[in-house]
Amino acid sequence: MEREVLKIAIQKSGRLSEKSLEIIRNCGIDFQTDSRVLRERATNFPLEFLFVRDDDIPTYVKDGVADIGIVGKNEFDESGFYLDTVKDLGFAKCRLSIAVPNDFDYKGIESLNGKRIATSYPNIMMKILKERGVDASAVVVSGSVEITPQVGIADCICDIVSTGTTLKMNGLKEVETIYYSSAIMIARPGFTNTVSKKNEILFRLLERMDAVEKAKNKKYILFNLPADKLDEAAKIIGGMKSPTVTPLMDKSWLSVQSVVSEDRFWSVFEDLKSIGAEGILVMNIEKMTE
Ligand code: PRP
Repeated sequence: MEREVLKIAIQKSGRLSEKSLEIIRNCGIDFQTDSRVLRERATNFPLEFLFVRDDDIPTYVKDGVADIGIVGKNEFDESGFYLDTVKDLGFAKCRLSIAVPNDFDYKGIESLNGKRIATSYPNIMMKILKERGVDASAVVVSGSVEITPQVGIADCICDIVSTGTTLKMNGLKEVETIYYSSAIMIARPGFTNTVSKKNEILFRLLERMDAVEKAKNKKYILFNLPADKLDEAAKIIGGMKSPTVTPLMDKSWLSVQSVVSEDRFWSVFEDLKSIGAEGILVMNIEKMTE
């Protein structure tokens, strides 16, 4: 086992945790998953997991307890820490919205002037409201924000919305979206520029992540084609340097293999059929490098 390890902070449970672990697993990295174990070493890669609360992740990375972390952009911006974004992971998309009780006569953002707004994101919220000329006050709570208007400690709320179900179930309506978030990978400033064993491990991890990502939207296709249609097939598939072409026993036919992006797949499939391609096989690609 390699002695030097890269320490990664991951949300213990919540909207980011499952997908964060799935990404690591898809990179061929194995580990135990017992939710009660908060510190875990991968069995086949020099990576150590710290399973923590998501709002603590920026602090752990800043203090060097973890080398990198997977966190929502909202938690990172709320922390106000100066850290590097190593990779935009794009999952766990959500928005930070202002929501008011259903009977609140909302006429526009100016209706928020003088109001008490409950939130777990006072820094992001106050900055944006100030930019938009609103003079409101923040009531800081760390969870169950939706209950605050009902119990009288706030007039409205500013919270994370994903499906909108929690708002509806608590008699609130979303009136302004002020910020968008998704998952990012963070590191200490300059960490990726240092020459170190840890950085080398991070580079290996990122390379594996890229390979998985590239493969995600691609299909591997294999088909038989009349030999005189090869140029036409190359035009249909497009963007490929060199399809793999194998002669068949019957010299008037070829076997062709190539990679096609998912969004173009059906048009490519139909066009290939129209020029006489037969036996078109389509396969998912697990990983792909340049
Ligand atoms: C957020 C937010 C809402 C909920 C909204 O909580 O605080 O309660 O998600 O999701 P919905 O629009 O899909 O109903 P989260 O699950 O992130 O946990 P938290 O309390 O730790 O913020």
